[in-house]
Amino acid sequence: MPQQTIPSVFVTGGAGFIGSALIRLLVTEGKYHVVNIDKLTYAGNLESLASVSKLPNYSFHQTDICDRATLDQLFAKYSPVGTIHLAAESHVDRSIHGPGDFIQTNINGTFTLLEAARAHWMSLDGEKKSGFRFHHVSTDEVFGSLGDSGLFTEENAYQPNSPYSASKAASDHLVRAWHHTYGLPTIMTNCSNNYGPYQFPEKLIPLMIHNAVSGKPLPIYGRGDNVRDWLYVDDHARALSLVFEHSSVGETWNIGGNNEKTNLEVVDTLCQLLDRHRPRTDGLSYAVQKTNVADRPGHDKRYAIDATKIQRELGWQPLETFETGLEKTVRWYLDNPEWVAHVVSGEYRNWMARNYTDRNGVQL
Ligand code: NAD
Ligand code: DAU
Repeated sequence: MPQQTIPSVFVTGGAGFIGSALIRLLVTEGKYHVVNIDKLTYAGNLESLASVSKLPNYSFHQTDICDRATLDQLFAKYSPVGTIHLAAESHVDRSIHGPGDFIQTNINGTFTLLEAARAHWMSLDGEKKSGFRFHHVSTDEVFGSLGDSGLFTEENAYQPNSPYSASKAASDHLVRAWHHTYGLPTIMTNCSNNYGPYQFPEKLIPLMIHNAVSGKPLPIYGRGDNVRDWLYVDDHARALSLVFEHSSVGETWNIGGNNEKTNLEVVDTLCQLLDRHRPRTDGLSYAVQKTNVADRPGHDKRYAIDATKIQRELGWQPLETFETGLEKTVRWYLDNPEWVAHVVSGEYRNWMARNYTDRNGVQL
C-alpha cells in the first residue's frame, strides 16, 4: 500500500541499470514513495534493488509499459506527482539483430505511458495538476555522430543512426509533441554513456570485465578508436533527481561526464586495473585477451556532451572522475560474482555465446 504521508512517484524501468541506481537514491532520500514499474525483461533484475526493496516507501509492479489498462489502474491507485520514464530496450547491438522489441517498447510503450499519464494529469486540478511532471530519460545517441571536434548541446538537430537511437528519437518527439499539443508537463534529459555497478555485461565496460576474468576474448569493434563520453551512473541518478525537482516544464537537459575516451583507452585501463586487483595466474596482462572483431554496422564515431546548462542552472557536477569511477566499478564486479552469474543465464547466455567474425568476415 502507498504511504499516505509522502507523495508517490513512478519510475519505469527501475529494475534496470540506471533505473535501479535512481531508485536506490530516491528511496534512501525518503522524500517519495517510489513505485517501480518494470516488465522484467532479460535486462531487469530485482537483485539490484535488494538494499531498498524492504523499505516502506518502495513498491514494485511487474508491468509492461505497453499495457494501458494496468497503467491506468496504477495511476488511479497511487496518484503520483510524476513519472520518471527509463523503461526501454537499451542495447544498440541487440537493436541491430532484432529491432522489433525496440519499436514496441521505446515507441509504442512511451506512447502508451504518455497517454496514461495524460489521462491522469487531466483528472487533476490545482497544484496537483500544475506540479505533475513527465520526465523522459533519453540518450545523446539521438544526435547522431560527431566528427573529431564539437560537443552535443541541447540545440543539436536529431540524426539517429541505429534502430535503438531512432526508436529513442521517436519517443523524444512523442514527448515533445504531447507537451506542445496537449500541454502535458514534460521534461527531458539526454545523457552520455553510463557505467558503474549493476550494468548488464552486454555493454562495453562490464562485458570486458566479465570476459577478462572468465578467460574469454575482449572483442574490440573495428579499430577501437570510436569515442564515448563516460558518466558514472550515480552521478547520472543525482542529475535526474535534480532535474525532476527543479526543471521548468518543456525543458531539455544534456548530461555528460566530460570523460571522452576511445574504446581502446577504456579497455587498456580496465586491463591495468584488473592486472592490479585480480592478476592472471600466468603473470601476463589481461591485454593479451584483446581481440579485434568486425565493426558494428553503422557504428557512430564519437559522442561528447556539453553539460554546461545543467552545471550552470542546477549546480550539478559529477562527483566521480573516470579513474575513481572505473576503479569502483571493477572492484564491484570482482566483489559481486553472484550478481553477474545470475544475469548471465537463460536468454542472456545465448546472447553472450554469440560468435564474432574478424574484420574480413572470418569466424573467430
Ligand atoms: P537497461 O537495459 O539496463 O534497463 C531497462 C529496464 O527497462 C529493464 O529493467 C527492463 O526490464 C525494463 N523494460 C524494458 N522493456 C520494458 C517494458 N516494455 N515495460 C516495462 N519495463 C521494461 O537500461 P539502462 O541502461 O538502465 O537505460 C535506462 C534508460 O536510460 C533507457 O531509456 C536508455 O535509453 C537511457 N539511457 C541509457 C544510457 C546508458 O549508458 N545505459 C545512457 C543514456 C540514456
Ligand atoms: O551514449 C549513450 C548510449 O550509450 C545509451 O543510450 C545506450 O543505451 C548504451 O548502451 C550506450 O550505447 P553504446 O553503443 O555507446 O554502448 P556500448 O557499451 O554497447 O558500446 C560502447 C562502445 O564500445 C561502442 O563504440 C561499441 C564498442 N564496443 C561495444 C561492445 C559491447 C566494442 O568495441 N566491443 C563490445 O563488445
